Amino acid sequence: MSVWAKHQVFEKNSIVLLVGILVVVAIGGLVEIAPLFYLKSTIEKVEGMRPYTPLELAGRNIYVREGCYNCHSQMIRPLRDEVERYGHYSLAAESMYDRPFQWGSKRTGPDLARVGGKYSDEWQTAHLINPRAVVPASIMPGYPFLAKTELDARSIAQEMKVQAMLGVPYTQEMIEKASGDIAVQATLDDPGAADLAKRYPKALARDFDGNPGAVTEMDALVAYLQMLGTLVDFKTYDRKANIR
Ligand code: HEC
Repeated sequence: MSVWAKHQVFEKNSIVLLVGILVVVAIGGLVEIAPLFYLKSTIEKVEGMRPYTPLELAGRNIYVREGCYNCHSQMIRPLRDEVERYGHYSLAAESMYDRPFQWGSKRTGPDLARVGGKYSDEWQTAHLINPRAVVPASIMPGYPFLAKTELDARSIAQEMKVQAMLGVPYTQEMIEKASGDIAVQATLDDPGAADLAKRYPKALARDFDGNPGAVTEMDALVAYLQMLGTLVDFKTYDRKANIR
């Protein structure tokens, strides 16, 4: 049987062709992907990265639940126009504790990877309640219910346990103190804030939604937005890169 005759077996039988395609694609996939699992340099360790606080993690869950990723990316590409608009390009390590990652695939709205600290809490809250109140031409939907809904964080410790199993360095202490940490972080001048910052350096603790009476979903989401992109100090990072 010539080579051509053998190839006819594939061409005349769609199932055989399908299996053949799968085998070839699988080999190609393995060759491309498998080496990444053995490369230590795939994710470079970067100073400043820490796991999310329980409040930030709860806010991140709301971000995912509401589908914010459908309109917002969280990945600044190393292209000049992106870096000039959004700040230092994203490092792999900056999403190392994101499960699942929130890089997104569409930018109806701006990239949010470094939105932390760009606006005040008041702006963020007003914008989420009704974007048109602060950006008249905005087409972003409003989420007024977040400010009225108390945060249900009963499962957050459980979630941290799962994340710890997956390699996020949550300690036993962090998991045990999860619900207390939520209350501390959502309160202005809480005496527990120093203790919280020991577990989670740079954690911002204050009343994010301007309603001291309750810990709402708005508190959690704004706490999350306000920390995005703030953990790595790029001044020291770039200096080190230059020395090297
Ligand atoms: C339908 C698309 C859409 C969805 C869904 C959406 N946004 Fe937006 N977002 C926009 C657009 C467009 C803008 C730019 C105009 C503005 O500032 O309102 C924006 C702006 C923003 C900004 C200001 C960014 C900056 O740098 O100025 C933040 C923060 C933000 N969105 C957060 C969120 C969050 C959190 C959610 C989910 C609860 C969300 N967005 C859902 C479209 C969307």
